[in-house]
Amino acid sequence: MTISRLLAPVEEDLKRVEDFILFNLNTEIPLLNEVGQYILKSGGKRLRPALLMISARMFQFPGEGAHQAAGAIEFLHTATLLHDDVVDDADVRRSRRAARTIWGNSASVLVGDYLLATAFRSLTQLGDLTVLNIISHTTSMMAKGEILQLIRRFDTATEADYLDIIIHKTACLFAAAAQIGGILAGAEPEQQEALYKFGHELGIAFQIVDDALDYAQDRERVGKPLGVDLKERKVTLPLSRLMSVTKGAEQTKLKAILAKEAIEDDDVLAVVEMMAGHGVLAHTLDEASRYVELSKSHLAMLPDLPERRTLEGLADYVVERDF
Ligand code: IPE
Ligand code: IPE
Ligand code: MG
Ligand code: MG
Ligand code: MG
Repeated sequence: MTISRLLAPVEEDLKRVEDFILFNLNTEIPLLNEVGQYILKSGGKRLRPALLMISARMFQFPGEGAHQAAGAIEFLHTATLLHDDVVDDADVRRSRRAARTIWGNSASVLVGDYLLATAFRSLTQLGDLTVLNIISHTTSMMAKGEILQLIRRFDTATEADYLDIIIHKTACLFAAAAQIGGILAGAEPEQQEALYKFGHELGIAFQIVDDALDYAQDRERVGKPLGVDLKERKVTLPLSRLMSVTKGAEQTKLKAILAKEAIEDDDVLAVVEMMAGHGVLAHTLDEASRYVELSKSHLAMLPDLPERRTLEGLADYVVERDF
Protein backbone atom coordinates (compact mmCIF):
# COMPACT_ATOMS: atom_id res chain seq x y z
CA MET A 1 0.00 0.00 0.00
CA THR A 2 1.22 3.55 -0.62
CA ILE A 3 2.14 5.66 2.36
CA SER A 4 -0.52 8.30 1.65
CA ARG A 5 -3.30 5.67 1.50
CA LEU A 6 -1.97 4.10 4.64
CA LEU A 7 -2.01 7.40 6.49
CA ALA A 8 -5.42 8.47 5.16
CA PRO A 9 -7.10 7.90 8.56
CA VAL A 10 -4.93 10.64 10.06
CA GLU A 11 -4.88 12.91 7.01
CA GLU A 12 -6.77 15.70 8.77
CA ASP A 13 -4.52 15.41 11.82
CA LEU A 14 -1.42 15.62 9.64
CA LYS A 15 -2.83 18.81 8.08
CA ARG A 16 -3.05 20.30 11.57
CA VAL A 17 0.57 19.24 12.11
CA GLU A 18 1.52 21.01 8.86
CA ASP A 19 -0.23 24.15 10.14
CA PHE A 20 1.85 23.92 13.30
CA ILE A 21 5.02 23.54 11.25
CA LEU A 22 4.29 26.53 9.01
CA PHE A 23 3.28 28.70 11.95
CA ASN A 24 6.60 28.03 13.64
CA LEU A 25 8.65 28.81 10.55
CA ASN A 26 7.60 32.39 10.38
CA THR A 27 10.35 34.36 12.09
CA GLU A 28 11.89 37.79 11.50
CA ILE A 29 15.04 36.21 10.05
CA PRO A 30 14.75 35.45 6.31
CA LEU A 31 17.64 32.93 6.20
CA LEU A 32 16.06 30.94 9.00
CA ASN A 33 12.66 30.89 7.29
CA GLU A 34 14.20 30.00 3.96
CA VAL A 35 16.29 27.07 5.17
CA GLY A 36 13.56 25.86 7.52
CA GLN A 37 10.90 25.95 4.82
CA TYR A 38 13.22 24.35 2.28
CA ILE A 39 13.81 21.29 4.42
CA LEU A 40 10.37 21.06 6.03
CA LYS A 41 8.48 21.38 2.76
CA SER A 42 10.57 18.92 0.76
CA GLY A 43 8.44 15.80 1.00
CA GLY A 44 9.25 14.09 4.29
CA LYS A 45 7.06 11.09 4.96
CA ARG A 46 5.86 12.41 8.35
CA LEU A 47 6.01 8.91 9.78
CA ARG A 48 6.79 9.94 13.34
CA PRO A 49 3.92 12.46 13.68
CA ALA A 50 1.63 9.92 12.02
CA LEU A 51 2.66 7.30 14.54
CA LEU A 52 1.90 9.67 17.39
CA MET A 53 -1.49 10.62 15.95
CA ILE A 54 -2.59 7.04 15.26
CA SER A 55 -1.62 6.03 18.80
CA ALA A 56 -3.56 8.99 20.22
CA ARG A 57 -6.61 8.24 18.05
CA MET A 58 -6.58 4.65 19.22
CA PHE A 59 -7.54 6.04 22.63
CA GLN A 60 -10.01 8.59 21.25
CA PHE A 61 -7.80 11.62 21.62
CA PRO A 62 -7.94 14.02 18.68
CA GLY A 63 -6.86 16.97 20.83
CA GLU A 64 -4.76 19.92 19.78
CA GLY A 65 -2.04 18.84 22.22
CA ALA A 66 -1.38 15.77 20.09
CA HIS A 67 -0.90 17.92 16.99
CA GLN A 68 1.51 20.11 18.90
CA ALA A 69 3.52 17.15 20.19
CA ALA A 70 3.52 15.57 16.72
CA GLY A 71 4.76 18.84 15.22
CA ALA A 72 7.48 19.08 17.85
CA ILE A 73 8.63 15.54 17.03
CA GLU A 74 8.82 16.38 13.32
CA PHE A 75 10.86 19.49 14.21
CA LEU A 76 13.22 17.36 16.24
CA HIS A 77 13.49 14.81 13.41
CA THR A 78 14.12 17.59 10.88
CA ALA A 79 16.82 19.12 13.07
CA THR A 80 18.60 15.75 13.11
CA LEU A 81 18.40 15.57 9.30
CA LEU A 82 20.01 19.01 8.89
CA HIS A 83 22.76 17.98 11.28
CA ASP A 84 23.03 14.51 9.78
CA ASP A 85 23.79 15.78 6.28
CA VAL A 86 26.61 17.90 7.67
CA VAL A 87 28.06 15.00 9.64
CA ASP A 88 27.64 12.59 6.68
CA ASP A 89 28.88 15.05 4.07
CA ALA A 90 25.71 14.31 2.13
CA ASP A 91 24.78 16.33 -0.95
CA VAL A 92 21.29 15.02 -1.62
CA ARG A 93 18.23 14.59 0.58
CA ARG A 94 14.68 13.77 -0.53
CA SER A 95 15.81 13.87 -4.18
CA ARG A 96 16.90 17.50 -3.79
CA ARG A 97 20.12 19.25 -2.96
CA ALA A 98 20.84 18.96 0.76
CA ALA A 99 20.36 22.33 2.47
CA ARG A 100 24.05 22.45 3.35
CA THR A 101 25.03 22.47 -0.34
CA ILE A 102 22.95 25.63 -0.85
CA TRP A 103 23.38 27.58 2.39
CA GLY A 104 26.48 25.89 3.81
CA ASN A 105 27.22 23.73 6.82
CA SER A 106 27.06 26.57 9.34
CA ALA A 107 23.54 27.59 8.33
CA SER A 108 22.42 23.95 8.40
CA VAL A 109 23.77 23.37 11.90
CA LEU A 110 22.35 26.62 13.25
CA VAL A 111 18.90 26.22 11.71
CA GLY A 112 18.92 22.66 13.02
CA ASP A 113 19.60 24.05 16.48
CA TYR A 114 16.73 26.49 16.08
CA LEU A 115 14.32 23.72 15.06
CA LEU A 116 15.42 21.67 18.05
CA ALA A 117 14.87 24.63 20.35
CA THR A 118 11.45 25.21 18.80
CA ALA A 119 10.52 21.60 19.48
CA PHE A 120 11.36 22.03 23.16
CA ARG A 121 9.64 25.41 23.39
CA SER A 122 6.40 24.00 22.09
CA LEU A 123 6.62 20.95 24.33
CA THR A 124 7.14 23.26 27.28
CA GLN A 125 3.99 25.14 26.25
CA LEU A 126 2.18 21.83 26.10
CA GLY A 127 3.07 21.49 29.76
CA ASP A 128 3.13 17.71 30.13
CA LEU A 129 6.24 16.95 32.16
CA THR A 130 6.18 13.24 31.34
CA VAL A 131 6.22 14.00 27.62
CA LEU A 132 8.93 16.61 28.05
CA ASN A 133 10.98 14.13 30.02
CA ILE A 134 10.64 11.43 27.33
CA ILE A 135 11.64 13.80 24.55
CA SER A 136 14.60 15.15 26.52
CA HIS A 137 15.82 11.62 27.12
CA THR A 138 15.23 10.70 23.47
CA THR A 139 17.15 13.72 22.21
CA SER A 140 20.13 12.79 24.40
CA MET A 141 19.99 9.24 23.11
CA MET A 142 19.92 10.39 19.50
CA ALA A 143 22.95 12.60 20.02
CA LYS A 144 24.75 9.69 21.68
CA GLY A 145 23.83 7.47 18.73
CA GLU A 146 25.53 9.79 16.26
CA ILE A 147 28.59 10.01 18.52
CA LEU A 148 28.73 6.22 18.90
CA GLN A 149 28.58 5.95 15.12
CA LEU A 150 31.46 8.36 14.85
CA ILE A 151 33.75 6.33 17.10
CA ARG A 152 32.85 2.82 15.92
CA ARG A 153 35.09 1.80 13.04
CA PHE A 154 33.55 -0.19 10.23
CA ASP A 155 36.24 -2.85 10.38
CA THR A 156 36.01 -3.62 14.10
CA ALA A 157 32.37 -2.87 14.92
CA THR A 158 30.18 -5.87 15.65
CA GLU A 159 26.53 -6.35 14.81
CA ALA A 160 25.81 -5.63 18.49
CA ASP A 161 27.49 -2.23 18.07
CA TYR A 162 25.38 -1.62 14.99
CA LEU A 163 22.19 -2.44 16.85
CA ASP A 164 23.19 -0.17 19.70
CA ILE A 165 23.79 2.69 17.25
CA ILE A 166 20.47 2.35 15.45
CA ILE A 167 18.51 2.01 18.68
CA HIS A 168 20.02 5.30 19.78
CA LYS A 169 19.88 7.28 16.58
CA THR A 170 16.54 6.10 15.18
CA ALA A 171 14.48 3.60 17.16
CA CYS A 172 14.09 5.67 20.32
CA LEU A 173 12.29 8.47 18.44
CA PHE A 174 9.80 6.06 16.85
CA ALA A 175 9.26 4.56 20.30
CA ALA A 176 8.73 7.97 21.88
CA ALA A 177 6.30 9.06 19.15
CA ALA A 178 4.08 6.02 19.64
CA GLN A 179 4.25 6.16 23.43
CA ILE A 180 3.50 9.89 23.63
CA GLY A 181 0.34 9.44 21.55
CA GLY A 182 -0.84 6.94 24.16
CA ILE A 183 0.20 9.12 27.08
CA LEU A 184 -1.62 12.21 25.82
CA ALA A 185 -4.72 10.12 25.20
CA GLY A 186 -4.69 8.65 28.71
CA ALA A 187 -3.84 5.05 27.78
CA GLU A 188 -3.06 2.65 30.63
CA PRO A 189 0.63 2.28 31.57
CA GLU A 190 0.89 -1.22 30.04
CA GLN A 191 -0.67 0.08 26.83
CA GLN A 192 1.80 2.96 26.77
CA GLU A 193 4.56 0.42 27.18
CA ALA A 194 3.22 -1.72 24.34
CA LEU A 195 3.16 1.36 22.11
CA TYR A 196 6.71 2.18 23.12
CA LYS A 197 7.90 -1.34 22.31
CA PHE A 198 6.00 -1.35 19.02
CA GLY A 199 7.70 1.91 17.98
CA HIS A 200 11.08 0.70 19.18
CA GLU A 201 11.13 -2.51 17.12
CA LEU A 202 9.61 -0.63 14.19
CA GLY A 203 12.35 1.99 14.38
CA ILE A 204 15.04 -0.69 14.34
CA ALA A 205 13.45 -2.24 11.24
CA PHE A 206 13.14 1.22 9.69
CA GLN A 207 16.84 2.00 10.02
CA ILE A 208 17.88 -1.47 8.80
CA VAL A 209 15.80 -0.85 5.66
CA ASP A 210 17.29 2.64 5.29
CA ASP A 211 20.72 1.04 5.40
CA ALA A 212 19.69 -1.57 2.81
CA LEU A 213 18.31 1.16 0.53
CA ASP A 214 21.74 2.74 0.52
CA TYR A 215 22.97 -0.21 -1.55
CA ALA A 216 19.79 -0.84 -3.55
CA GLN A 217 20.28 -1.01 -7.32
CA ASP A 218 16.78 0.25 -8.09
CA ARG A 219 17.10 3.87 -6.97
CA GLU A 220 14.25 5.57 -8.73
CA ARG A 221 12.50 6.64 -5.54
CA VAL A 222 15.18 6.39 -2.83
CA GLY A 223 15.99 10.10 -2.99
CA LYS A 224 19.59 9.62 -1.81
CA PRO A 225 22.58 8.58 -3.96
CA LEU A 226 23.91 5.01 -4.09
CA GLY A 227 26.56 4.01 -1.58
CA VAL A 228 26.89 7.13 0.55
CA ASP A 229 27.20 5.00 3.68
CA LEU A 230 30.02 3.04 2.06
CA LYS A 231 31.81 6.22 1.04
CA GLU A 232 31.54 7.36 4.66
CA ARG A 233 32.61 3.90 5.86
CA LYS A 234 29.48 3.56 7.97
CA VAL A 235 28.99 0.39 9.96
CA THR A 236 25.70 -0.90 8.64
CA LEU A 237 24.16 -4.34 8.51
CA PRO A 238 24.61 -4.91 4.75
CA LEU A 239 28.30 -4.08 4.92
CA SER A 240 29.02 -6.10 8.04
CA ARG A 241 27.13 -9.03 6.53
CA LEU A 242 29.18 -8.76 3.35
CA MET A 243 32.41 -8.68 5.34
CA SER A 244 31.43 -11.84 7.16
CA VAL A 245 30.42 -13.84 4.08
CA THR A 246 33.23 -12.99 1.65
CA LYS A 247 36.36 -15.11 1.51
CA GLY A 248 39.68 -15.31 -0.30
CA ALA A 249 40.27 -13.00 -3.25
CA GLU A 250 36.88 -11.37 -2.90
CA GLN A 251 37.51 -10.50 0.73
CA THR A 252 40.93 -9.12 -0.15
CA LYS A 253 39.30 -6.92 -2.78
CA LEU A 254 36.65 -5.72 -0.33
CA LYS A 255 39.27 -4.89 2.28
CA ALA A 256 41.30 -3.01 -0.32
CA ILE A 257 38.26 -0.92 -1.23
CA LEU A 258 37.53 -0.13 2.40
CA ALA A 259 41.14 0.84 2.98
CA LYS A 260 41.19 3.37 0.13
CA GLU A 261 41.62 7.02 0.94
CA ALA A 262 38.57 7.88 -1.14
CA ILE A 263 35.96 5.30 -2.09
CA GLU A 264 34.86 6.03 -5.67
CA ASP A 265 31.69 5.24 -7.63
CA ASP A 266 33.39 2.22 -9.25
CA ASP A 267 34.19 0.83 -5.81
CA VAL A 268 30.59 1.26 -4.76
CA LEU A 269 29.44 -0.64 -7.85
CA ALA A 270 31.91 -3.44 -7.10
CA VAL A 271 30.59 -3.73 -3.53
CA VAL A 272 26.97 -3.65 -4.72
CA GLU A 273 27.80 -6.48 -7.13
CA MET A 274 29.40 -8.52 -4.35
CA MET A 275 26.30 -7.94 -2.23
CA ALA A 276 24.08 -9.16 -5.04
CA GLY A 277 26.24 -12.28 -5.40
CA HIS A 278 25.78 -13.16 -1.73
CA GLY A 279 22.12 -12.16 -1.33
CA VAL A 280 23.15 -9.59 1.26
CA LEU A 281 20.19 -7.26 0.77
CA ALA A 282 17.72 -10.13 0.96
CA HIS A 283 19.33 -11.16 4.22
CA THR A 284 19.20 -7.57 5.50
CA LEU A 285 15.51 -7.24 4.64
CA ASP A 286 14.81 -10.59 6.34
CA GLU A 287 16.38 -9.17 9.46
CA ALA A 288 14.20 -6.05 9.16
CA SER A 289 11.13 -8.27 8.71
CA ARG A 290 12.02 -10.09 11.89
CA TYR A 291 11.86 -6.78 13.78
CA VAL A 292 8.62 -5.84 12.04
CA GLU A 293 7.03 -9.08 13.23
CA LEU A 294 8.36 -8.42 16.71
CA SER A 295 6.92 -4.91 16.63
CA LYS A 296 3.51 -6.22 15.54
CA SER A 297 3.51 -8.75 18.38
CA HIS A 298 3.25 -5.86 20.85
CA LEU A 299 0.02 -4.69 19.24
CA ALA A 300 -1.79 -7.63 20.80
CA MET A 301 -1.84 -5.62 24.04
CA LEU A 302 -3.80 -2.81 22.39
CA PRO A 303 -7.51 -2.37 21.65
CA ASP A 304 -8.71 -4.20 18.56
CA LEU A 305 -9.68 -1.09 16.64
CA PRO A 306 -9.06 0.23 13.10
CA GLU A 307 -6.06 2.18 14.45
CA ARG A 308 -4.39 -1.09 15.34
CA ARG A 309 -4.77 -2.21 11.73
CA THR A 310 -3.24 1.06 10.59
CA LEU A 311 -0.23 0.47 12.86
CA GLU A 312 0.08 -3.04 11.44
CA GLY A 313 -0.01 -1.60 7.93
CA LEU A 314 2.63 0.95 8.87
CA ALA A 315 4.85 -1.86 10.17
CA ASP A 316 4.48 -3.80 6.89
CA TYR A 317 5.13 -0.63 4.92
CA VAL A 318 8.49 -0.19 6.64
CA VAL A 319 9.97 -3.26 4.94
CA GLU A 320 8.13 -2.82 1.65
CA ARG A 321 9.08 0.82 1.19
CA ASP A 322 11.36 2.02 -1.57
CA PHE A 323 12.05 5.51 -0.21
C1 IPE B 1 15.50 9.52 7.59
O1 IPE B 1 14.22 9.30 8.10
C2 IPE B 1 16.47 9.35 8.70
C3 IPE B 1 16.50 7.99 9.23
C4 IPE B 1 16.24 7.72 10.47
C5 IPE B 1 16.88 6.90 8.35
P1 IPE B 1 12.94 9.32 7.15
O2 IPE B 1 13.15 8.38 6.01
O3 IPE B 1 11.72 9.10 7.98
O4 IPE B 1 12.97 10.80 6.61
P2 IPE B 1 11.86 11.65 5.85
O5 IPE B 1 11.42 12.66 6.85
O6 IPE B 1 10.73 10.77 5.40
O7 IPE B 1 12.59 12.25 4.70
C1 IPE C 1 19.76 8.53 10.19
O1 IPE C 1 20.87 7.92 9.71
C2 IPE C 1 20.03 9.06 11.54
C3 IPE C 1 19.21 10.21 11.91
C4 IPE C 1 18.50 10.16 12.99
C5 IPE C 1 19.26 11.44 11.13
P1 IPE C 1 21.32 8.13 8.21
O2 IPE C 1 22.51 8.96 8.14
O3 IPE C 1 21.38 6.78 7.58
O4 IPE C 1 20.09 8.91 7.58
P2 IPE C 1 19.96 9.28 6.05
O5 IPE C 1 20.12 8.01 5.27
O6 IPE C 1 21.04 10.26 5.74
O7 IPE C 1 18.57 9.85 5.95
MG1 MG D 1 22.85 10.48 6.58
MG1 MG E 1 23.91 9.68 9.42
MG1 MG F 1 20.86 6.27 5.63
